[in-house]
Amino acid sequence: MLILGVETSCDETAAGVVSDGRILSNIILSQEIHEKYGGVVPELASRIHTTELVGIIDKALTGAGITLDDLDGLAVTHGPGLVGALLVGLSFVKSVHLARKKPFIGINHLEGHIFAGRLEHPGLTTPHICLVASGGHSNLYLVEDWGRYRLLGSTRDDAPGEAFDKIAKILGLGYPGGPAIEKISESGDRNFIRFPRADMGKDSYEFSFSGLKTAVAVYLKDKSPEFISRHLADIASSFQEAAVEILALKALQAAGNFQIPRISIAGGVARNKRLREIFRELSPREIELYFPSPELCTDNGAMIAACGEFHLEAGETSDINLNAVPYLEL
Ligand code: KG4
Ligand code: ZN
Repeated sequence: MLILGVETSCDETAAGVVSDGRILSNIILSQEIHEKYGGVVPELASRIHTTELVGIIDKALTGAGITLDDLDGLAVTHGPGLVGALLVGLSFVKSVHLARKKPFIGINHLEGHIFAGRLEHPGLTTPHICLVASGGHSNLYLVEDWGRYRLLGSTRDDAPGEAFDKIAKILGLGYPGGPAIEKISESGDRNFIRFPRADMGKDSYEFSFSGLKTAVAVYLKDKSPEFISRHLADIASSFQEAAVEILALKALQAAGNFQIPRISIAGGVARNKRLREIFRELSPREIELYFPSPELCTDNGAMIAACGEFHLEAGETSDINLNAVPYLEL
């Protein structure tokens, strides 16, 4: 099948074409305007999707060497995400559905992230454990089969990407915080200070990042600007170490408890190199680890197309009444 995937749930305007599980194109526009506000401004995100989406889709189709008429179907994120942003992609796809009589399917953004693993690694089998760690989510799934997921746990408060973004803001490192903290951490001592790792217990798969965020803020409170500036990389690196360790330990705990020796890691935070490294350090040898390439960790259209291809092949379709659902669950 030849499928166009459209993703506009947050601040990436993205479209990709996938055919039989292979990427033909994957075009991502990361909206930079939000940097100066220190976070995503929902109204601005929607407006930029409106002005940029058609051009991005055009590039995705041209890159794949096809036109809209060649498509067998379309897939679009319809939640979770920012409602105004979701509506832009959804309206576009519905228009093509009506004008060109093409079937389409609404995709859960989180399922899209899970499919990034399969897109990158066609050999990734089920069952496996999948950690989706992003700016909005920290979800641990048992992927029983493609299309069948058991949510084992999520965060009680902040998502990990949100924690990276907030700590970067406190440290004056700009937005988005994840890449900024990762970069400065390279020259820091990750054992400079041991920040707390919240653990909800051996049988719990829930995460918590707000305590870690508060611990960093409390630590900084009585430090002089000179000290902070001298140890900026050490503090950032110590925070990063705690955050990635929390994620890796929970995912490994799930793999151990369910005796499933395969873990796939997805979402924007999965780009983090120290996260990848700590997974390798802490994993028993029999556990296989699957990380998508950085481009497939970030919100993108190809993962939505891949997930859409799976559902359309199974005979599922959406209709014109499909709505954007900001808190859609998986
Ligand atoms: O999956 P994503 O692109 O969008 C959401 O669905 O949220 O994830 C964005 C999040 C941001 O919070 C960003 O700071 C974080 O992923 N992120 C990272 C890195 N690159 C992006 N966090 C840690 N290390 C990175 N290298
Ligand atoms: Zn995402």
